[in-house]
Amino acid sequence: MKIIGTGSALPQKVVTNDMLAGFLDTSDSWITTRTGIRSRRLLSTETLRELANDAALKALESSGLRPEDIDYLICSNVANTYVSPSLGSILLGSLGCCCPTFDLNGACAGLVYALDMADAFIKTGKAHRILIVAAEQPSRFCDWHDRSTSVLFGDGAAALVVTEGEGFMDFRLTGENHTDVMYYKRSLEVTPYDRVEEKTTPLVMEGREVFRIAVEASVRDVDTLLERNGLTGNDIDFFLLHQANMRIIECIRVHLDLPREKFPTNIQNYGNTSSASIGILMDELSREGKLKDGDTIMMSAFGGGFVTGAAILKWSEIKYN
Ligand code: ACO
Repeated sequence: MKIIGTGSALPQKVVTNDMLAGFLDTSDSWITTRTGIRSRRLLSTETLRELANDAALKALESSGLRPEDIDYLICSNVANTYVSPSLGSILLGSLGCCCPTFDLNGACAGLVYALDMADAFIKTGKAHRILIVAAEQPSRFCDWHDRSTSVLFGDGAAALVVTEGEGFMDFRLTGENHTDVMYYKRSLEVTPYDRVEEKTTPLVMEGREVFRIAVEASVRDVDTLLERNGLTGNDIDFFLLHQANMRIIECIRVHLDLPREKFPTNIQNYGNTSSASIGILMDELSREGKLKDGDTIMMSAFGGGFVTGAAILKWSEIKYN
């Protein structure tokens, strides 16, 4: 399976750390030194569906395919307005696709989960041209009185078109239960038989524990994939890591003892956009011409659950108009 189209879309609204310090007990220097984030984009007047649609159209255009050529649409999303229908079903309408679709929630690793699933569909001949859209609005599940979580996130969407071809070499997905360190609960209706009220609890996160698990898990995934494929870190041209925290990325880089140039980042401008983060980064690098034919790329993401997903691929250059 190979990637033949990329797209991304970000909200218009730029929110700087100083703007947050206007209503939260925080500062630009705290946020910058602890996370590397300088600003983020937050949905205000647009909707998540519009963002997802925009990213998908750009990916389709760069792939040279039309919406009707797509035979599967996989959406990666943690939360949006509707629990049902899925974001994928909603997108079918605006994109003009008519194909099977579903949403998967692999938290911040959702894009890698979607790619792994697409790879299986393509290998078994179930689908040939798959559109993957990762669209996230974490700003809507944070408590905006909680300075320890709300400053970390940004909204955004990324899309990839994949088809048969030489590209992805290997995947590694893992999962283990750590509900208490990071969760967001949504309300459920009571029934005559189950009267336990389930109210919404905005994102709860034990930052230090998440930090520790994230670094350990990502290093383990990267090391495993390198070893399994007879590679060393030097053979990888770019590590596209989940953009959760600059210090997490730096810890992983130091463990691998590799130069900074191999670890491109955009968390400075967008914050943590959950499962969209690696896709947005990939789209930007590809459009800037930084990803060259034959480059070896390692993707590695981790998220609430705790779940992780990593992949190695050989890049094929994409032409953009
Ligand atoms: N501004 C100012 N002070 C703050 C802020 C803030 N925004 N947030 C917390 N603090 C304070 C704390 O209250 C604490 O104060 P105290 O010492 O008086 O108690 C102090 O700063 C230090 O807090 P720590 O939590 O110990 O700070 P730490 O160095 O661990 O950094 C952070 C916190 C940035 C959250 C870090 O732990 C982290 O990045 N963790 C990983 C978070 C993450 O990546 N989550 C998502 C991953 S999975 C996914 O993407 C879905």
